[in-house]
Amino acid sequence: MKAGLYQFNPAFGEKEKNLGKVASAAKDADIELLVLPELFATGYQFTSKDEVAELSESIPNGRTTEFLCGMSKEKGIYIAAGLAERGRDEFYNSAVVTGPEGFIGAYRKTHVYSEENLYFSPGDSGFRVWDTKIGRIGVMICFDWFFPESLRSLALSGADVVAHPSNLVLPYCPAAMPTRALENGVFTITANRTGIEERKQGASLKFIGSSLIVSPRGKVLAKASADGEELITADIDISAARDKSLNIYNDILGDRRPDRYGAIFGKE
Ligand code: ACM
Repeated sequence: MKAGLYQFNPAFGEKEKNLGKVASAAKDADIELLVLPELFATGYQFTSKDEVAELSESIPNGRTTEFLCGMSKEKGIYIAAGLAERGRDEFYNSAVVTGPEGFIGAYRKTHVYSEENLYFSPGDSGFRVWDTKIGRIGVMICFDWFFPESLRSLALSGADVVAHPSNLVLPYCPAAMPTRALENGVFTITANRTGIEERKQGASLKFIGSSLIVSPRGKVLAKASADGEELITADIDISAARDKSLNIYNDILGDRRPDRYGAIFGKE
């Protein structure tokens, strides 16, 4: 199947403009899976909880999720995209997965980064994988990559492809993703954004672009520029993610020895 991501520079607070931009970018794209950045409909740098309250949405009954469901149905594609979620009592930095069949599920970012902590609660959904017609899709959001347990959890839950909506500001992720993909034997699709937000004086954020699609053997299949708005694609053969063997003796997931990893589980 063909997968793609759209890297762009969302305008803060201009939801309809951002949705429109995504619709035109995807219009003629020949893909079955599209990954969009973290918080793609609202922009990233919130400055108050009131602002989050105003721009966040219920899932699945909110403008952005409904827009994505519509686009999925119309184009017959799967989409994974990040958005600000208004929960019952709290806000979450979330992502939804939609498909031709409609809303599929949501994930709430587990590892909340920097000042996001002022506005969003740590996610409580756990890492989730959805079995779809094009393969098993798992989701993590931006800073989650820093914790190898995130992608490992998704791989152990059967993910073939990990959609990774992002708003990266630190430089490390693009170089790290080939290792994350390799050590878990999965495809990764990191959809980052571009541009600069300075909604707080002296707290300018420059997003690093450089979105990328990586194979289960750690090969970079497609990479975007540092500052361009681009839809990039790659051919993905799901069977490559189902074969975890390196040779007749070694299997990436099967050879793990959790009884030797006590410290990871908080044991002696
Ligand atoms: C990030 O998690 N948006 C850096």
